[in-house]
Amino acid sequence: MFGLQVNSFEFKNFFVQRIGKSTFVWRMVEFLQGVSFSIDYWLYYKTNLIKSKSSITEINIEFVSYCNLRCTLCSLDHDKPKIRMSEETLKHFFEDFISDPHFRSVKTIHLYNAGEVLLHPRLEAMLDIVKLYKQKAKEKGIFFPQIALLTNAIVLNEKNSTTIINSGVLDYIRFSMDGGSKEMFEVMRERAKWDVFVKNITHFCELNNNSARKIPTGIITLVEYKNKLNTKWMSEEFKKLLSMVDGYELRYAHNWGGEVEIEELKNKKKKTYKVGCSLLMHQLVLLPNGDITVCCADLNSKGVIGNVLNESLRTIYNKPQRKDMLKKFMQGKKKEIDLCKDCETF
Ligand SMILES: C[S@@+](CC[C@H](N)C(=O)[O-])C[C@H]1O[C@@H](n2cnc3c(N)ncnc32)[C@H](O)[C@@H]1O
Ligand code: SF4
Ligand code: SF4
Repeated sequence: MFGLQVNSFEFKNFFVQRIGKSTFVWRMVEFLQGVSFSIDYWLYYKTNLIKSKSSITEINIEFVSYCNLRCTLCSLDHDKPKIRMSEETLKHFFEDFISDPHFRSVKTIHLYNAGEVLLHPRLEAMLDIVKLYKQKAKEKGIFFPQIALLTNAIVLNEKNSTTIINSGVLDYIRFSMDGGSKEMFEVMRERAKWDVFVKNITHFCELNNNSARKIPTGIITLVEYKNKLNTKWMSEEFKKLLSMVDGYELRYAHNWGGEVEIEELKNKKKKTYKVGCSLLMHQLVLLPNGDITVCCADLNSKGVIGNVLNESLRTIYNKPQRKDMLKKFMQGKKKEIDLCKDCETF
């Protein structure tokens, strides 16, 4: 979508959509993912042949750790401390990020992870900081990643919509619209009201389409396993919203590192031997208190390996814990990694 860097979820869904699951071709795809991981491991970690840049291609930034919804397939622990990122922490991160050429490898910064980004009370100031560093990078002739935002859109009111569009900082925005019908949306996105969602998206799209710098838009739709990854069976009102945005991604649920039980995955043989995890290889996640965790499947911060307020991003990237995880994946010892042993995410 939008000619973006494709992450492993999107890569996987692309193939599931076209060739279905449990096929020989699909096994080949998994095999190729393993080969790709092995090559990257060899280039970036084993031989150090690529010294000038990191293996990280995307960084997620979590503005707040809490959420207004209770989606049935999400693993976010709503009892964990409610933390919001300070402007100082965000500046601290970007200062380090743009001054280290090692991280010019990063193609996309996602302004979301767990939680709901639009609940940040100083959204405008936070976007201004991102914009400031985007401009600083431009002035210095430094490559700056594209900036993406994903929201549940329930608090995408007039003020937030205007803030986002006027900030001019986003390269694309996506909305989460699970289900396939109004009824399933409200079941899967517990606490969300379909009518509010429709009103917010419609209004955002109107404002956005009329703005001088239209932000490309998209939708992510999680669908039940019993349905096909296409729109044929969806309700007309659901399809109408899908047609309002520039692109959409239909996906099946994964198990968030083993933190949610997905009925359809329960009886599947665990791939504990699997070589590689592309999220571990290519991602880092900045949490509201400055902690860094290793991947976006870790919604409850169990894989924290450092904090940007005490150490540089480069030091954290090179942490022995992370390297040990990569090595274990290389050796097919996924089951020895606590965070990953039950993960069917990648
Ligand atoms: C964790 S949310 C964070 C951003 C924001 N709160 C939202 O819902 O848009 C990121 C995305 O994960 C999707 N999601 C939730 N549970 C999922 C699961 N079990 N498998 C795959 N995607 C899931 C949601 O639909 C949403 O698009
Ligand atoms: S998927 Fe997003 S909106 Fe739903 S509970 Fe999780 S973080 Fe909140
Ligand atoms: S929990 Fe482990 S296996 Fe799952 S995506 Fe994260 S790093 Fe990869």
